[in-house]
Amino acid sequence: MKKSVQILIVIGLLCAINRLSYAQTAKATISNDSKLIISKHIYGQFAEHLGRGIYDGFWVDKNMPVKKQDRIRLDIVEALKKIKIPNLRWPGGCFADEYHWRDGIGPRLSRPKMVNTNWGGVVEDNSFGTHEFLQLCNLLGCEPYISGNVGSGTVQEMSNWIEYLNFDGTSPMTAMRAQNGHPKPYNVTFWGVGNESWGCGGNMTPEYYSNEFRRYAAFAKNYPNATLKKIATGPSDADYNWTESLMKNVGTRMWGLALHHYTLPTGDWKDKGSATKFTREDYFKTMQNTLKMEELVTKHSAIMDKYDPNKKVALVVDEWGIWTNVEPGTNPGFLFQQNSLRDALIAGTNLNIFNNHCERVKMACLAQAVNVLQSLILTKKEKMVLTPTYHIFDMYKVHQDARLLPIKLDAPDFEMNGQKIPAINASASQDAAGKIHISFVNIDATKAIEVKADMGDMKWDTVDGQILTSANLTDINTFENPNKLKIAAFSGAKKSGNNVIVTLPAHSVVVLELK
Ligand code: AHR
Repeated sequence: MKKSVQILIVIGLLCAINRLSYAQTAKATISNDSKLIISKHIYGQFAEHLGRGIYDGFWVDKNMPVKKQDRIRLDIVEALKKIKIPNLRWPGGCFADEYHWRDGIGPRLSRPKMVNTNWGGVVEDNSFGTHEFLQLCNLLGCEPYISGNVGSGTVQEMSNWIEYLNFDGTSPMTAMRAQNGHPKPYNVTFWGVGNESWGCGGNMTPEYYSNEFRRYAAFAKNYPNATLKKIATGPSDADYNWTESLMKNVGTRMWGLALHHYTLPTGDWKDKGSATKFTREDYFKTMQNTLKMEELVTKHSAIMDKYDPNKKVALVVDEWGIWTNVEPGTNPGFLFQQNSLRDALIAGTNLNIFNNHCERVKMACLAQAVNVLQSLILTKKEKMVLTPTYHIFDMYKVHQDARLLPIKLDAPDFEMNGQKIPAINASASQDAAGKIHISFVNIDATKAIEVKADMGDMKWDTVDGQILTSANLTDINTFENPNKLKIAAFSGAKKSGNNVIVTLPAHSVVVLELK
């Protein structure tokens, strides 16, 4: 072959390779013109009396060989402090509507036992009650978020609980609190008026619950230094009628409206799919289901806007995350599941959605913190594992209380069997020190994507980053190999003019810091 022909072939090949690598490119435009703050409370957590969440999770046997304060595990506390969890929701969930708070105060040995009908029918010994929970929040440095019992409780019971927690004067409730070792009020402000009142919390219609909310809320009193942020049971998934009714009948009497949306890999409650054994098709479907959160938040917010154009009522996504079949061999009522790289991509995606909707979404709680559903932490006796989801909360903590920088993405799709979802999602913010953070999730299972992010007129000189990824989507951290997935330094971003050029590896989460 002539040399000139050979040269032409080589040039042709180079062009093809060039075209291939540029086939996966995206553009991001980041703007500086927003005053909205991403509330730190979007990064909240949930701990229910369910399975090994509280008992044998946060609260362990006095003989367990780990560092403890009372019976609270301090290794868990330290890990959660590191990621700055801002709030903890308790005691449920469905459990909240069968919980009677007086059973959980006073000398532990004389506390009555009860059956936990929702979760495995196990005996609840009430050793972890109000004071233990508030001691835990104090150690974590986070705000308590308590869900009161509307389903099987009374208005007086809830009203007394609030007085017990927050009143600083003389009353039978405050005398009892002092007798139980806490003369000073706790000043709890996040207050759930029931949970899933359309289901396990009482099977109510939205109209009936609206009236119940108004009645319970009337006796949920504000005490000095403790103005309640009352959070109503909100819709499940796409129940827009529930939102419409609550906004119409309750409106700004509530501080927040709770939305619950779980990501089911198969979309089927009877067989949700495995946490660790899934195909690329299963993965695609799971991500499609998790991205539904964008539509839910957008549509529920639009209904809220009709009644509350000034956005006084918060959308509180106080249960979210992936819900799979339980780990084989574990109690089906305990909801114990493993946590893979897929979970990390789900966490990053949902947090990006909440950040971008921070004008309406002012609070969210992942379900759940320890040993239940999409956990941050898994434990086995004295061993503890930080899950991939934990690492995402660690990487994203930089967004807490930072100013939103709205981001526009022009990105390719991730395609599977003729269906498409956006391959990339992202959010950006600027913290009080002026540092800019951009969090990207590349959902695409096989392709790296180069993003050119236009930073407009924002001033910055250097870019650093962190990444979480792994060879396989099914990779997990185990008690034997707890650091298979961990945060690594990321050097795939550079400055070009005032653009950031970043190459996001397939199935990865990257957080950049520009300063
Ligand atoms: O998080 C597990 C359960 O899911 C909660 O108890 C309930 O509110 C929801 O249905």
